[in-house]
Amino acid sequence: MTGLNDAPGTGPLAADLVEQYNREGFLLLPPELLSPDLLDSVSAVLARALTDRGPQVILERDNVTVRSVYGVHQNFGEIGEVIRHPDLLGPARQLVGDDVYVHQSKLNIKAPFAGDQWEWHQDYIYWLQNDGITKPDLVNVSVFVDDVTEFNGTLTFIPGSHRKGVLAGSLADGPPQGYEDAPDWVATLTAEEKFRISPEVIEGLARSNGMVSPKGPAGSVLFFNPNLLHASAPNISPFRRAVLILVYNSVNNTSVGVGTPRPDFLADPNVSAVTPASR
Ligand code: SIN
Ligand code: MN
Repeated sequence: MTGLNDAPGTGPLAADLVEQYNREGFLLLPPELLSPDLLDSVSAVLARALTDRGPQVILERDNVTVRSVYGVHQNFGEIGEVIRHPDLLGPARQLVGDDVYVHQSKLNIKAPFAGDQWEWHQDYIYWLQNDGITKPDLVNVSVFVDDVTEFNGTLTFIPGSHRKGVLAGSLADGPPQGYEDAPDWVATLTAEEKFRISPEVIEGLARSNGMVSPKGPAGSVLFFNPNLLHASAPNISPFRRAVLILVYNSVNNTSVGVGTPRPDFLADPNVSAVTPASR
């Protein structure tokens, strides 16, 4: 497999790819490197998850379209296996530098025409403030279930912004529009971000570092750092943009405890190391 090195002790990613991830804060691998059965399995789960309803299913502001389904590694046995797949777990362990468990998992759907934005934000502040995770020793692993293009709401990153740590921001006033009656934790999952980074900070970083939107066919895998500044635009196209996002955390970085823990589907209390499935 081009770009991969399976030497024991080093993990599957070649040193230059790890270096690229550490420098840029993200790494996109092409679909040729992912086992086709893994993608089939995620696609099959997505079809079923879309018909689910419950607190773990977040709707768009239109109150109809499914935006996200959380807790998929807990609620779907197939995803419970996907998190153990060496194609995902191997790089996750290597990039975190430790054994890992899955702190959170979700399918982000971005429905045709109706899939809404994610405002500029960093992920780690939520895991720090809401879940008591005190170090940013996590990695987002996003498996593209559909082709991701410039039209259907790709993520946009400011490369290298993760090296600034947690950026200055402020808390939004009140609940997001359209979710006034929802529990407090919903405010972290909607098109309006709860922790807002100031436009001046975003502008300064974008001017110095530029912006990148990693795109690729279904089966591509995107790794990104929890402190990387990112956003994504609404899906203006007639094509769905679904991704599976697994958030792996170091087993030595578990929650120190918070007053009101978020539901299990947002912060998994099972912190045992994920063990690799045999190939
Ligand atoms: C998206 O699915 O476009 C946003 C994901 C994220 O902000 O982590
Ligand atoms: Mn995010």
